[in-house]
Amino acid sequence: MKNVKEVLISEEEIQNRVQEMADEIKDKYADKDPLVVSVLNGSFMFCSDLMKRLNFPLELNFIKVSSYGNKTESSGNIQISGGRIDMKDRAVLIVEDIIDSGNTLKRLTEYFNQLGAASVETAVFLDKPSRREVDIQADYTGFEIPDEFVVGYGLDFAQYYRNLPYVGILDEAVLS
Ligand code: IMP
Ligand code: MG
Repeated sequence: MKNVKEVLISEEEIQNRVQEMADEIKDKYADKDPLVVSVLNGSFMFCSDLMKRLNFPLELNFIKVSSYGNKTESSGNIQISGGRIDMKDRAVLIVEDIIDSGNTLKRLTEYFNQLGAASVETAVFLDKPSRREVDIQADYTGFEIPDEFVVGYGLDFAQYYRNLPYVGILDEAVLS
């Protein structure tokens, strides 16, 4: 696509890895009637592909977290919206597009624990470990990537590029 200078992770690699993640999650959650919480907007495509591969009963709900605006750095100031979800005594699995500074997942995990979840785990599609500001690790990770701003497979730049079926790196000219 225009303005994408490089494909970092191909569609085929993604699909294979998502299947592996689903197999792992299945082993742990098949008998747990989990509550899966998809973090919008970025996780919509990952969550959709992952859910299609989980063949056991689960509850799926959505929250929206904003911190980004149109920039490429987290503001650190996170807003959670969406209706109240009853988590009391549930095995909660958060599905997120990427863990970068770690602020979003850390805040969400703490918040869900406060709401009375029995357990809170996280499945993230991408991980940029070199950017971490808080001590947190995902329980299920798709791919570790270098410190590059990426788009596609749900991830955006100014709400564009989410529709790409692969993960790509943008031309620097677009980012500035
Ligand atoms: P964190 O709170 O810094 O871990 O940021 C997590 C959020 O930042 C993700 O949910 C994404 O929405 C966004 N984000 C971080 N890195 C990228 C990127 O390379 N491309 C697109 N969005 C990103
Ligand atoms: Mg996001």
